[in-house]
Amino acid sequence: MKVLIDEEQINSRVIELGRELAQEYQNRPLTIIGILAGSLVLLADLIRAIDVPHQVGVLQASSYRGKSTTPGELQVNLDYLPDLTDRDVLLVDDIFDTGKTMQTVLAQIQDQNPRSLKSAVLLWKEEASQVELEPDYHCFKIPEHFVVGYGLDFNNEYRHLPFIASLEGSDLA
Ligand code: IMP
Ligand code: MG
Repeated sequence: MKVLIDEEQINSRVIELGRELAQEYQNRPLTIIGILAGSLVLLADLIRAIDVPHQVGVLQASSYRGKSTTPGELQVNLDYLPDLTDRDVLLVDDIFDTGKTMQTVLAQIQDQNPRSLKSAVLLWKEEASQVELEPDYHCFKIPEHFVVGYGLDFNNEYRHLPFIASLEGSDLA
């Protein structure tokens, strides 16, 4: 495993993004929605870095990777979503890879009639994108390597690591 982005780099960039978002959303009815499970570490840190009143909710999306590093069929569960009517919604995920998760979930949230809708991710694998869409906010662009830590998993392991590391071929075996 090789560390790509260390804990301090993540913390300072998340604080910086939080300040930017607080400016953008001051005096607006903001709801931040985290996509489980990958966004949960970013969500916890980012909401504490956004110093304006806001609501928080979650939804679940999973592309059933298991031990594979390529996505399978996407399943979305909106059962725990709060009422988003007339809210300014910021959708938060761990990573924008092919972009298909974000594209699908954004479309489903749009159906709930929010006042506005934007996306924020920790990582953006810009070269891996398979959609026209781009994330509105991102913390770091990374190359097309499979990474873990700070919420990101491989076969549901490694989410707790406080840094982002890329897995080598032997780790993935
Ligand atoms: P997308 O739909 O291809 O953009 O993939 C988004 C989802 O796939 C993310 O929410 C992650 O859960 C997962 N994912 C994509 N790339 C990685 C990675 O490098 N490590 C761990 N999970 C990843
Ligand atoms: Mg995910």
